[in-house]
Amino acid sequence: MPDFILAIDQGTTGSTVALVDSQGQLCASVNVEFAQVFPRPGWVEHQPEAIWASIEKALAKLLRKKLCKPSDIAAVGITNQRETSVLWDRRSGEALHNAIVWQCRRTADFCDELRRAGHETLVRKRSGLVLDPYFSASKFRWLLREVPAARRALKAGALAAGTMDSFLLWRLTGGEEHATDVSNAARTSLMNLKTLDWDDDLTTLFEVPRDILPEIRPSSGVFGYTRGVRGLPDGIPIAGIAGDQQAALFGQACFTAGDAKCTFGTGSFIVMNTGGARIASKSGLLTTVGWQLKNQDPVYALEGGAFVCGAAVQWLRDGLGLVRQASDIEALAATVPDHGGVEFVPALTGLGAPHWAADARGLITGLTRGSERGHIARATLDAMALQNVDILKCMEADLGKRMRPLRVDGGAAANDLLMQTQADYLGRKLVRPRIIETTVAGASYLAGLGVGLWRNTAEIKRIWQPEREFAVGMTAPRRRKRLASWQAAIDQTLLADK
Ligand code: G3P
Repeated sequence: MPDFILAIDQGTTGSTVALVDSQGQLCASVNVEFAQVFPRPGWVEHQPEAIWASIEKALAKLLRKKLCKPSDIAAVGITNQRETSVLWDRRSGEALHNAIVWQCRRTADFCDELRRAGHETLVRKRSGLVLDPYFSASKFRWLLREVPAARRALKAGALAAGTMDSFLLWRLTGGEEHATDVSNAARTSLMNLKTLDWDDDLTTLFEVPRDILPEIRPSSGVFGYTRGVRGLPDGIPIAGIAGDQQAALFGQACFTAGDAKCTFGTGSFIVMNTGGARIASKSGLLTTVGWQLKNQDPVYALEGGAFVCGAAVQWLRDGLGLVRQASDIEALAATVPDHGGVEFVPALTGLGAPHWAADARGLITGLTRGSERGHIARATLDAMALQNVDILKCMEADLGKRMRPLRVDGGAAANDLLMQTQADYLGRKLVRPRIIETTVAGASYLAGLGVGLWRNTAEIKRIWQPEREFAVGMTAPRRRKRLASWQAAIDQTLLADK
């Protein structure tokens, strides 16, 4: 019986294809980056064909390692950058425009219009989300209005819309399936959190015809079968789909209400399992779906995300040339004892939770003649941690109590200096698991459950193992001083946005 899971993690800057065995162990993974397209300041796009090519390339490289025969693959799991929106023609399978990336701010004015017209309460109540260009609905509307080929396909009844999971599912099944899972649909602003179906008032408000949208299904269970994918036999079930942050929550075995994780990726996202409760935030966080297993009730979640985390390091590398590779940041930051008064607010694509300032721009303050490259690197790591402090404070305010120790993951979770800084600034213990690629792990667990490789979450829980804890090593007065300096920089950023 085949017992490997192939997980596809279609992320913001690259696609990872990984192989997980029946013990839940990551056997190998291959990441292939693709180009970011910045047509105007604040706009971000991806070429869907470049994304597909990155997956094909990663898959070919992974299969060349010959860790198993393609026929040993029991199921495919998909996890993806969320909200990124694409339209394609069902007849040709071709995308009709570049995908509009979650970070893209092009629909900020439209979201403001809706806010001024008093629609925020409806959007918030039905979808659990705030009105912000981050989410898919206004991106679909933009594409429908601006892309003539999309309007022609719509007229011909051949238009399909979706987030990256849907697009990949369509491609992997040779155009057989147009579906998504609840965790991805929850990020469009078009799904009703209670009914888990597209909401007619929301689709009308955002002018997105319901029949171009994918069918919403549970996150685990057979979505369709591979057909015509280079390197893979036909007929492998695609049996799990979840947005990357929710997949990470699952991969961190956060199965009990109150369990929370923080993923350090392109952005950083704290998500807490709230069980069957849809907690409406009073502090600018989002209510969302964690996942839904087949024939079970959905698990809801509370989420706060900072748009730029690892992306800030990438900018230091590509924009400033301050480091040769992203991993050099730890050593450069360690050349100075602290940030030396330098603050970097990495609002490079606006500010997300809890500020929701779509037009905010990045800021570096506190420079002196004594400032060095190391201070900028240190301020960047500090900012990655400080954004999470702001979010965690909101989460605890919403809950009215302290949270359990946060589980950390994602590429930058390997950075010990960053993790210690995070524990110090939060004033809370962190736990890092042995597998920090929890997004990939979560997608494979969902797919494995979908085909019966694992029977239940109790079996998955046994796979999760802690690797290291980071205890708080900073006094409260020092922490207060550090947070006050950061808050002043945030205030300045928000002021400049007014
Ligand atoms: O909501 C956006 C998020 O899904 C992107 O994740 O890992 O690319 O930062 P990541």
